[in-house]
Amino acid sequence: MSLRLQSFKEYQEAQRTAKNDPDGFWDGIASQFQWIKPHHQTRSGSLQGGDLKWFVGGRLNITVNALDRHAIERGNQSAIIWEPNDPNHLGQTLSYKELYERVCDMGAALRASGVQKGDRVILYMPMTPELAVSVLACARIGAIHSVVFAGFSAQALADRIQDAGATVVITANEGRRGLKIVPLKSTVDEALEHCPTVQLVIVQRVTDSSCAMQVTRDVWFSEFLNRGTGLPCPAEPMDAEDPLFILYTSGSTGKPKGVVHTHGGYMVYTAYSFANVFQYERGDVYWCTADIGWITGHSYIIYGPLLNGATTMMFEGIPTYPGPDRFWAICAKHKVNQFYTAPTAIRALMCHGEAPVQAHDLSTLKVLGTVGEPINEEAWHWYHDIVGQQKCPIVDTWWQTETGGIMLSGLGSLSPQKPAHAGLPLPGIDPVLLNPDGTELQGDDVEGLLCISAPWPSIIRTTYGDHERCLNTYFRPYPGYYFTGDGARRDADGLIRVIGRVDDVINVSGHRFGTAEIESAINEASIAVESAVVGFDHPIKGQAIHAFVISESALDEAQKQVAIGDVLEAVEKGIGKIAKPARVQFVQGLPKTRSGKIMRRILRKIASGEFDQFGDTSTLLDPSVVDSIKIDAQTTWFTAP
Ligand code: WTA
Repeated sequence: MSLRLQSFKEYQEAQRTAKNDPDGFWDGIASQFQWIKPHHQTRSGSLQGGDLKWFVGGRLNITVNALDRHAIERGNQSAIIWEPNDPNHLGQTLSYKELYERVCDMGAALRASGVQKGDRVILYMPMTPELAVSVLACARIGAIHSVVFAGFSAQALADRIQDAGATVVITANEGRRGLKIVPLKSTVDEALEHCPTVQLVIVQRVTDSSCAMQVTRDVWFSEFLNRGTGLPCPAEPMDAEDPLFILYTSGSTGKPKGVVHTHGGYMVYTAYSFANVFQYERGDVYWCTADIGWITGHSYIIYGPLLNGATTMMFEGIPTYPGPDRFWAICAKHKVNQFYTAPTAIRALMCHGEAPVQAHDLSTLKVLGTVGEPINEEAWHWYHDIVGQQKCPIVDTWWQTETGGIMLSGLGSLSPQKPAHAGLPLPGIDPVLLNPDGTELQGDDVEGLLCISAPWPSIIRTTYGDHERCLNTYFRPYPGYYFTGDGARRDADGLIRVIGRVDDVINVSGHRFGTAEIESAINEASIAVESAVVGFDHPIKGQAIHAFVISESALDEAQKQVAIGDVLEAVEKGIGKIAKPARVQFVQGLPKTRSGKIMRRILRKIASGEFDQFGDTSTLLDPSVVDSIKIDAQTTWFTAP
């Protein structure tokens, strides 16, 4: 299989082919995989209709392409290298043959327990090989996996289990993150009080601590595997359009939505984009530091690399444990060739200076990547000069949970690069910038709403259980285009720089949160009558959350301290620690229009320390509210340590 373009000229040719003959282009890529039955139509539906299907009529199983092929051709090659939280603990390396066998054992055990094609399985797990095995085992038997990041609260977990109607949860007794222990099983127990559909809970023993086990429902991972012993685990034949997974992500309204991806299109695009962006060559060691609870971990720790027969690293811990050189120590230990991380991690490590980087031999690095949020120039240069020693190209990869794979990015060292610019689209991807009225901005040196004007195989298929929501969010705002929710600039050289969200989504340390989601969590605090949250620039997190909260009654300083604690606790309970506001400010009112809409633009200005030039405020119901918020903002608000 050769998916990799090897020169800029080849990239330009691919782009031309994809434009002139998109079906032929994607067929050519799809034909490099193993299908049980080839498709009879490359694509049906349209962006206009929001009803796209890819490789129609094709049958396959993604795990045959990610595992079986390689187990036969290169069974002894390392598939997954696992680095534990504690560097003194023993790591693991699974060859393609071993990974294949472990996935088959788990798949057989799930089947023996009655899990069938189409059933939903929730994975709430730490970053261990068992998580990767569980993901792939679900895919193998056609069950739909939904990984929930193991930092979400019981309530957030319960919301997702209920929305998915899941019957099985796979978890661990506890997770380890640096010196912290995360009580996963007890969180699952709490969530399941409200989830009657779940019949089976499989528990990996990660630490020596005990945890409560319900005899009829809960089983240890290692014992569970016995249920499949000796049973074969043939891959379930899947329709190309059968769902592979649901991954919940935040939008600007309501609860998180379940983004659905499918076996066929997702396979083709994640494999193609991985090969090209990272310019992976056989034998390289590739490391993506994301958590599998997010899309980056799905597409570029598990599926993209394994589909290419690559060696992919998984890391259980955090960048600063036991010291701020951990990332670099791991790169040196495993001779990492491609390293992919988030700007927030780079900025946090930058604060520790150059010495931790220079203490390690990073000469094997060939390509450095970033993802999740815009990277500022200072961080870009530090990454390029200090980590990459000016020898490695930086691929600034822009994409989303909904796009399934990387859309805008350099391809290793093939493409032109410019600090803080994602750059050019991948072949077959057609980004455009729109004016708010929907007209396309022509030429270069322009800024507008980032949309995509041609379909690609791993585009979101639906939001689970609510297709209308999918249409309203992505396909109806600008008919004929996929709407990303981001604003972007195309510079004089035609390179794209993604600036950030234009909707009510806040990106904190590369994690997406909807304002509505955080506000409804805050409003659960008994002290809070109403609230509004906005993002403000933060030197490490990119953005942080400023919450404006109307309290039930006026608060003195001592009461305020208690009330702040209540607000933070409500967010931790409703969503998780990761969504906690950095600032809480109590206010008497919120700037609302006569129709009751909060004017966030004003709050965003106040949160960023700008106290005048609010623009037109004539539509506000009570303009004096703004003055009182301003006065408070200049004097009192809580700032998290
Ligand atoms: C932001 C993560 C600038 C963007 C893969 C997008 C970026 C959202 C970049 C998706 C980048 C991601 N430059 N912004 N290179 N990558 N974003 O769904 O706002 O967790 O819409 O997917 O992250 O976040 P998600």
